[in-house]
Order: sequence, then structure tokens, then C-alpha cells
Amino acid sequence: MLNLSAVEACVALDQRCLGGFWSETQWQRELGQPQQRLCLGSFEASSCALLGVCCGWVVADELQLMLMLVDPRCRRSGVATVLLKELLELAKERRCKQATLEVAASNAAALALYRRLGFSTLGKRRRYYRNGDDALLQWLDLSIVKTRTDNRPD
Ligand SMILES: CC(C)(COP(=O)(O)OP(=O)(O)OC[C@H]1O[C@@H](n2cnc3c(N)ncnc32)[C@H](O)[C@@H]1OP(=O)(O)O)[C@@H](O)C(=O)NCCC(=O)NCCS
Repeated sequence: MLNLSAVEACVALDQRCLGGFWSETQWQRELGQPQQRLCLGSFEASSCALLGVCCGWVVADELQLMLMLVDPRCRRSGVATVLLKELLELAKERRCKQATLEVAASNAAALALYRRLGFSTLGKRRRYYRNGDDALLQWLDLSIVKTRTDNRPD
């Protein structure tokens, strides 16, 4: 799990991926509250560079996925899939029962990723984003996610 020592690397990755979706202060907030806000990172083995992050909030029994970023130079190599699966497992271990997120209707890559992991579209928020794009509300029942403790004998 990422902590405050990763702020600088997260800000730089966010700049490369989305031109700065969150400010440095927002990243500090995300990384500084590990009980409610879960942030996982993926690092390159040779350089220790941050390649991807996945952040969500635990709100009651729900994981609200807030942001998923993968460095443009290593996309389509499974980084997001691994990060998201780990985040869903962690959320289930924290007693979450469902995961939700909003994604732009035009974001084909993200939609394909979420569909592959079992999310389904629950609804649409029309013209939700500043550029006029609709948001599609995605939902996953976490009972289909296996955690490390699921197979342990009692
Ligand atoms: C969406 C994003 C996180 C995907 O990361 P990634 O590491 O490339 O994803 P993965 O390699 O794990 O891809 C898993 C599956 O998702 C789908 N997918 C991913 N990128 C895709 C693309 N560009 N076009 C179509 N399908 C895509 C595919 O089904 C893929 O499996 P495959 O490669 O075996 O066909 C990445 O493109 C990104 O950072 N985009 C910019 C930020 C963003 O839009 N974030 C999501 C909204 S918060």
C-alpha cells in the first residue's frame, strides 16, 4: 500500500497520465488516511519507478474506486488488472460488499478493463464531466472476489 512517501511519484505519474487530475494536496489527502483511503502502487523492478496506481475510498460497506492510472509506456501489460484485483481483495478483507465507480462513456479502455473484471453498468449520469461526457456508473458484487483468507480452514 502506498503512503505519504509516494506523493511526489504519484503527482508525476498523474501529470503523465491525465495532465494532473489531483493536486499535490489531494494526493497527500489520499495517501495520508490508510484506514478510509486505499492506494496501491505498481513499481518497475529495475528502476523502482512508479508505473501505476489504483485508489479507492472505503465508505460503509462499499469501495468507491476513485482513480486508476497506468504509465502510458507500459499499458496493455496487465498492470491495471493486477492493481485492481488487489484493491478489490483488500476492500473485501476490510468487509466491503460492493465496489462502485464512475467512468466516462467515451473511455473504451477503462470500460473494457472494468467489464473484464466483472463490473456491470448500473446507470448513466448525463453530461457529468466538464467536457460534456456522460458518466457510466459501474458496480461489482465483491462476493465473487476471492481473498487470501477465503481458502483457509477455520
Ligand atoms: C485504463 C487504464 C488504467 C488501463 O491500464 P492497463 O494497465 O493498460 O490495463 P491492462 O493491461 O490491465 O488491460 C486489461 C484489459 O483491459 C482492456 N483494455 C485496456 N486498455 C485497452 C485499450 N486501450 N483498448 C481496449 N481495451 C483495453 C483489455 O481487455 C485488456 O486486456 P488485453 O490487453 O488482454 O486485451 C490505462 O489505459 C490508463 O491509465 N488510462 C488513463 C487513465 C484512465 O482513463 N483511468 C481510468 C479512469 S479512472
